[in-house]
Parts: sequence; structure tokens; C-alpha cells
Amino acid sequence: MSEHVYNLLKNHHSVRKFKKEPISEAHIKQLVEAGQSASTSSYLQAYSIIGINDPEIKEELKEVSGQPYVVENGYLFVFVMDYYRHSIINEESKHDMQTSFESAEGLLVGTIDATLVAQNIATTAEDMGYGMVYLGSLRNDVERVREILDLPKHTFPLFGMALGIPEDDENGSPKPRLPFEHVFHANQYNSDKDSQREALKAYDQTVSDYYSSRTSGERTESWSNQVANFMSAKQRLDMLEQLNKSGFIKK
Ligand SMILES: Cc1cc2nc3c(=O)[nH]c(=O)nc-3n(C[C@H](O)[C@H](O)[C@H](O)COP(=O)(O)O)c2cc1C
Repeated sequence: MSEHVYNLLKNHHSVRKFKKEPISEAHIKQLVEAGQSASTSSYLQAYSIIGINDPEIKEELKEVSGQPYVVENGYLFVFVMDYYRHSIINEESKHDMQTSFESAEGLLVGTIDATLVAQNIATTAEDMGYGMVYLGSLRNDVERVREILDLPKHTFPLFGMALGIPEDDENGSPKPRLPFEHVFHANQYNSDKDSQREALKAYDQTVSDYYSSRTSGERTESWSNQVANFMSAKQRLDMLEQLNKSGFIKK
């Protein structure tokens, strides 16, 4: 086996500082095509990719996200769950497909499809020498993103991705992941709390050491702390409402 893909994946880290150089149209096309080769649930291809190089649109999206790299990058993608084309088929078909768009299953299918496409793009981009970061921050204001991108009913903006050539002083590094034994369960789920707690404690120390070494001891936050802070912040609680408004998850 060539170790190329394995090493590429293991070296991933999010890049948040890019050179101003735009990504060529030829590379964008290749990236999208690589994305499209991902598997897709029941061949539904329930996604679209919005490619953005218009500085004004980037600026408007940055206002939603609050993150400078939404503007300062080589290119910006927004990944959209998309049943619009399926709804056109529905209008002309003798079958009633409505339930499929409106079901929780439809939401899962579209989200998974778009995510697989995005990760193919991420890996291909990193292989081309670009860096990338996902942007869930676009969901800070879904209604505004729908407006900016002129999204019709039966579509939903899931997340963005900023890409580009990493800036010379971009000094990100691969963040330690949970240990293999913690995420991998042989045959059946291991819900034993004692061993889970033990593994968490060790991982908390690993993450704390990682942050400490990268900030000369200034940041020593554990993973559990980070998770607790983030998950207690009660953010984006309007997602169900926004999905409903877009024609989703009614069943
Ligand atoms: C769906 C998704 C949304 C994300 N949204 C943001 C974001 O809005 N802003 C950001 O700076 N990073 C974002 N990230 C990047 C994560 O913070 C990052 O992947 C995680 O901390 C692990 O770091 P790494 O990618 O460097 O390994 C997002 C990642 C994913 C998968």
C-alpha cells in the first residue's frame, strides 16, 4: 500500500491564514469533480456546491460568520443540502416524493451526501498543496445566508469551506485525536463508564499538553473543558425552525 493518502490524512490541520492568491478555475473544477465522485445515498446526489470568489458576497458572508478567513482566502465554497432538483422531478412525476424531502431521513441523507462531497474536496485540496477550514459559522444566520446566496426552498446551507495557499507564517499543526481504543469498539459498543473516564482523563492531559506546548504554557485547556464550554453555550437553537422554513423535517 502506498502511504500517501494515509500520511496526507494524518497531516491534516485546519488552516485559517491564507495567501491572497486566488485558486485557478481549473483547480476549482477538479476539486468539485473529485467531490462529486463520493458515494451518494441511493444515487440521490442531494447537494449543491456554491463556489464564491465575489468579494462582496464573501464580505456579506463574513458578517454572518464573524471570521476574517471567510474573506481572506483563495476561494470559498458553501455546501448546500439540495432537493430543489428533486422537487422539479416531483412536479413532473406521477409519484408523490414530497414525504422524502420532508422526513428526518431526507435530512440525514442530504447532510451525509454533502459532507462526503466536502471531505473529498478537502482531501484533494490538501493533496494539491492548499489548506482549508470548514465554516459551520455560516449557520449563525441561516436566513441571511439563504438571502445572500439566493437559495430556493428545498435547499439548506450546511457549512462553508475556505481554501487557499497557507500563509508562510501559518503555523497550525495536527491536533491530537482521541486514542484509537476510545473511538474504536470491537463488535459492540463499550459503554463501561470507568474505562471511558480513564481514557478521557488521559486524553485531557494530551490535549492540555498540546495547547500548552503551542502557546508557551498560556493555554492549558483540557478537551473535556473545551467540549463542556462549547456544548453549554446553547448556540443556533433556531435550526429546526430554519429547516422547517426551508421545507425540511416536517415528518
Ligand atoms: C462541520 C465543521 C464546521 C466547522 N466550523 C468551523 C468554523 O466555523 N470556524 C473555524 O475556525 N473552524 C471550524 N471548523 C474546524 C474545526 O474547529 C476543526 O476541524 C477542529 O478543531 C479540529 O482541528 P483540525 O481540523 O485542525 O484537526 C469546523 C469543522 C467542521 C468539521
